[in-house]
Amino acid sequence: MNRVYIKTYGCQMNERDSEAVAAMLRGRGYRIVDDENACDIMLLNTCSVRDAAEQKALGKAGYVSARKKRQPDFVIGILGCMAQNRGAAILDTLPDVDLVIGTQKFHQVPDYLDNLRAAREAGVPIGSSIVDIAEEAGSQNTIRDHLIDTADAGAGPDGEGPPPAPQVSAFVSIQQGCNMDCHFCIVPKTRGDERSRPMEAIVAECRSLASKGVREITLLGQIVTSYGRRDYAHTGGVSPFVQLLEKVHEIEGIERIRFTSPHPRGFKADLVEAYARLPKLCEYVHLPMQSGSDRILRAMNRPYSRERYRQIVEALRAAQPDMYFSTDIIVGYPGETEADFEQTRELFEACNYDMAYIFKYSIRSGTVAAELADQVPEAEKERRNQVLLDILRRNSGRRTASLIGTTQEVLVDGPDKTGRRFTGRTRGNRVCIFDADPRLIGQLVPLRIERASVSTLYGSLVLAGVDATAAEGASAATPLGAARSPHVSAA
Ligand code: SAH
Ligand code: F3S
Repeated sequence: MNRVYIKTYGCQMNERDSEAVAAMLRGRGYRIVDDENACDIMLLNTCSVRDAAEQKALGKAGYVSARKKRQPDFVIGILGCMAQNRGAAILDTLPDVDLVIGTQKFHQVPDYLDNLRAAREAGVPIGSSIVDIAEEAGSQNTIRDHLIDTADAGAGPDGEGPPPAPQVSAFVSIQQGCNMDCHFCIVPKTRGDERSRPMEAIVAECRSLASKGVREITLLGQIVTSYGRRDYAHTGGVSPFVQLLEKVHEIEGIERIRFTSPHPRGFKADLVEAYARLPKLCEYVHLPMQSGSDRILRAMNRPYSRERYRQIVEALRAAQPDMYFSTDIIVGYPGETEADFEQTRELFEACNYDMAYIFKYSIRSGTVAAELADQVPEAEKERRNQVLLDILRRNSGRRTASLIGTTQEVLVDGPDKTGRRFTGRTRGNRVCIFDADPRLIGQLVPLRIERASVSTLYGSLVLAGVDATAAEGASAATPLGAARSPHVSAA
């Protein structure tokens, strides 16, 4: 009765929230399982950014509802953005759903499940489903302690299975919500007002992760560059976000820092200079462009021009010549003409992205753009999508080819899928596969890149650069008892 399967749709923030829910549930004696056919409770942590993501989760919930016929105690919960966006209306189409829990109430999931279980064990029929999508003051602090704080169990709760490998990379939530009001975006509705966690709490969490063997931190939020803007002053022209980067940078044991998602308007001189000044800050920037047409940027309520965007890219390349860029683009925003798209195509090509997330505009009811006439036909969105994907393939392929024969610093993450080799990532966030020793997990090692597939680099360790005693020391600092990610599956 206590086996929980969590399925996660959408972004890294959702992954992070699912990890936190899993950790809290483990702390209450629930078992997190990775086989959806062998669970008693299924939680779908949902995404609302595009209609397709909502339809996927709704389809899944409808499909698994049928299980209640043969497994009457089976519990289905819908968590996160779609719960927040649609609320109790979800029950109109899916009356068998037991829990609808919004984005500010993740921390309540264990209590709600405990109550459901207790009621069922006492034979009390559950009259209705639980819907909780209220706002909660301070909810940015409730998803706080990383799972390895509460799940130090090593092997599973029953002591079965090998001890998990140490965790090398962790996501740390620094801020929730967004007040930007981009006209296409549902996130301000699903994630609420911008709220930041206190800087000391974030730094303390990062320190604790470092002491448990974590070497790479990704700071997460819907608009991280606005971090703390209402809570902390700029000091000497340095924004609270950059102050936070500096503090995390000081933590011994943390070797790499990343963040997502920023906003172009956050890239003032202080952040650009941070790339030249803070060596742990990886030279990989996700810089959402959305459109390269000034007319469409204005219609989207994005407060920058194509020229300003181009300047930011140039300034970042000047600060870090080896910079890797990724972006988000929306094609087919209402009213986007062929000439507008040509502007996007041109800027997209010029920025030479290593990675890009290209989306076909999806109508989100309740947003300003949903009301606009002049919607672009689906086939045209698809065509524009393909044009950008082709450019991305070419540019990213060129970057990949340029890496062959070079030596890259790789953070060893753990065994690969086959269990025979190891995986790690470069500072530019490229996945690498290579032969190594388990003692190197959590170490930065030089890897000579020998060949590449579309998405993966293959190479061999440059052993002269790896100090065996350092590796010994590291394995002591990353005891095998430290827990790894729970079995949370991504969409
Ligand atoms: N800053 C946020 C952005 C969330 S949405 C974060 O990453 O946490 C992620 C991306 O989805 C946006 O940058 C945008 O490119 C895309 N997107 C948002 N709303 C969309 C819509 N209605 N249709 C298509 N793409 C959309
Ligand atoms: Fe969405 Fe724009 Fe904020 S894309 S998350 S409203 S910066």
